[in-house]
Amino acid sequence: MKMIPPRCSMERFAERFERVSRIGSTGDGGVHRPFGSTADLELRHLLQTIAQDEVGLAVHVDPIANIWGIHAGCEQLPAIALGSHHDSVPYGGRFDGPLGILVALEVIQTLKEHGFPNRHPLAFISFTAEEPNPFDLSTMGSRTVTGRLTKEQLHTSKDWDGRSLQEAIAAAGGNLARVHESHLSASDLFAFLELHIEQGRRLEQANIPLGVVNGICGIYREHVTILGEANHAGTTMMRDRHDALLAGAKVALALEALIKESHRDDLVGTVGRFAITPNAANIIPGTCDLVVEIRGATTEDMHATARSFAQATAAIEAEYGVSITREILLDQAPQPLAHDVIELLQHAAQEQSTPYSTLFSMAGHDATHIASFTRAGMLFVPSIGGKSHCKEELTDLQDVAPAIQVFIQTVMELDQR
Ligand code: GLV
Ligand code: MN
Ligand code: MN
Repeated sequence: MKMIPPRCSMERFAERFERVSRIGSTGDGGVHRPFGSTADLELRHLLQTIAQDEVGLAVHVDPIANIWGIHAGCEQLPAIALGSHHDSVPYGGRFDGPLGILVALEVIQTLKEHGFPNRHPLAFISFTAEEPNPFDLSTMGSRTVTGRLTKEQLHTSKDWDGRSLQEAIAAAGGNLARVHESHLSASDLFAFLELHIEQGRRLEQANIPLGVVNGICGIYREHVTILGEANHAGTTMMRDRHDALLAGAKVALALEALIKESHRDDLVGTVGRFAITPNAANIIPGTCDLVVEIRGATTEDMHATARSFAQATAAIEAEYGVSITREILLDQAPQPLAHDVIELLQHAAQEQSTPYSTLFSMAGHDATHIASFTRAGMLFVPSIGGKSHCKEELTDLQDVAPAIQVFIQTVMELDQR
């Protein structure tokens, strides 16, 4: 007998969203909740309380400090997991990450309270450190469970102030000494579903309430260090200077030019971090540190851009008489999402008469890594004005209801497999 998907409670969902949004609030609509911060720890505590006391899940924290909540199934089968991340970029928005976590809890709670006899365990997960952070290890929780971050990388990692990752993970309830125990395979997870804000403006512009994601871009990051010469800003002739900031500025402009030459929307480049020393009005900058990022839909595009970028930096090095070193921080391939899950999501949207569009994501997500070993699918909901990674990030919570219903139906259908 076919069971009709039960309806979620948007009142409960909205109330939880308000509670979660208060943690790390900057008072101007945004949140500051980077991995390792007090706000990160405080939200971890709240999520565990909600999952355990309000949803009735069996909660545990794995060795990389991902938070899990399990609703047992009737059979010995791998779990169907839903979730996202709860950390934020510095001075970011309320929706990126937590929205997907609260959707996961709402889907599981709705099925649970309507007595859905799930064969597979239903698992809620909030991943550790999805966003770039002072340890320079983004998607830390999802990369660790896939074994993509090595023990060596985790054990030697320190933040910009010299704090060890071991200490930060222990404070969050994990234990790096046992990190191998967090590894997952298809025999642990049957499927993974993540809801996220679109973070762009395609859905809003097309007036479509739902995006079914078909793939996630690749991300390549380099730490570029420029060593020039600090010297007196008055007495050093222009011809005698080795100004690290000017070389850094040229590096950023060279990246922009390279990307623009491609005339593509699925290839982008950013210098999002830029710091100089000594950073004083009357001293020629002696060093410049940048983080350069390239995102694309194919590895070939990203690597070709990285090669041209390397040539450009070599020319800038010679022009300014500085020394430039480049260290690759991340080289992550684009990842298609699972065809069978995409079809189930599209089918559920059709059955519920929710218009949808199938989209490729130029934002990175934990689902990228989970999709490397099991079937993973994602839904997007519209971002008002396409704003994200800033305090103006906004999604109408009413727009999330159709997505929750699509997930409820998709979980019910996946559970039959
Ligand atoms: C994650 O938010 C990313 O796209 O960097
Ligand atoms: Mn983000
Ligand atoms: Mn996110």
